[in-house]
Amino acid sequence: MKIIMLGAPGAGKGTQAKKIAAKYHVPHISTGDIFRANIKEGTELGKKAQEYMDQGLLVPDELVCDLVVDRIHKDDCENGFILDGFPRTIPQADALDGALAQNGEKIEYAIDVEVPDENIIKRMAGRRSCKDCGAIFHLVYNPPKKENCCDVCGGPLVLRDDDKEETVKKRLDVYHEQTAPLIDHYKKAGSLYEVDGTQDINVVFEEIESILEA
Ligand code: AP5
Ligand code: MG
Ligand code: ZN
Repeated sequence: MKIIMLGAPGAGKGTQAKKIAAKYHVPHISTGDIFRANIKEGTELGKKAQEYMDQGLLVPDELVCDLVVDRIHKDDCENGFILDGFPRTIPQADALDGALAQNGEKIEYAIDVEVPDENIIKRMAGRRSCKDCGAIFHLVYNPPKKENCCDVCGGPLVLRDDDKEETVKKRLDVYHEQTAPLIDHYKKAGSLYEVDGTQDINVVFEEIESILEA
């Protein structure tokens, strides 16, 4: 099961990818999470990535592609993977498709979670993420059981640095310009599936289940 999640910032890629990973036992690989972990640890990669992330810009392709290609060749990806936040540019998609093609493989499901920009701006202000385990919550749509406390690990919930309204707007522009063209790319490849991401989180997941189990 080789899956990529497409969709604007805040569309719900991470939320759905975690549910898919839990149900189908494939690793959830989020490039955003990988960069945030590197920032937290103060690595060279983290320092470079942060310059771009803070501005709502994409990290350059050369810092991302090899990292992901190496990751999907690890043993735990034997039965597949879910990539969340990669690819995000046509050169990234070409690098991924090329690496898979070497073994006669390809992306089977490119799941595009569709949410209009107006909804995204409203959604982002309410997102809270666990500082320790990365679990994703929303003050209104997916509240934690206990205020400011992660349901999974008990860690503190924080607002992401790039969720300020100005940065969200920039991320949306970058999405439309550089990432949206991937929808056509995977449509042509015959692996595009679109879901309406404005529905309840569990309804969106049911739609994804029916795609994966068809
Ligand atoms: P990344 O971490 O990937 O951020 P993103 O694409 O902007 O997406 P988000 O994580 O913000 O949103 P999401 O779609 O995962 O939504 P979520 O499930 O959290 O990337 C961050 C940065 O890293 C980039 O800007 C870039 O700089 C860099 N980067 C990463 N990958 C890169 C790459 N490949 N190349 C170059 N640079 C890269 O949900 C959002 C909120 O909505 C949550 O609060 C959630 O609870 C809520 N929610 C979810 N679903 C629903 C629903 N159906 N109804 C109501 N609320 C919902
Ligand atoms: Mg995410
Ligand atoms: Zn946690």
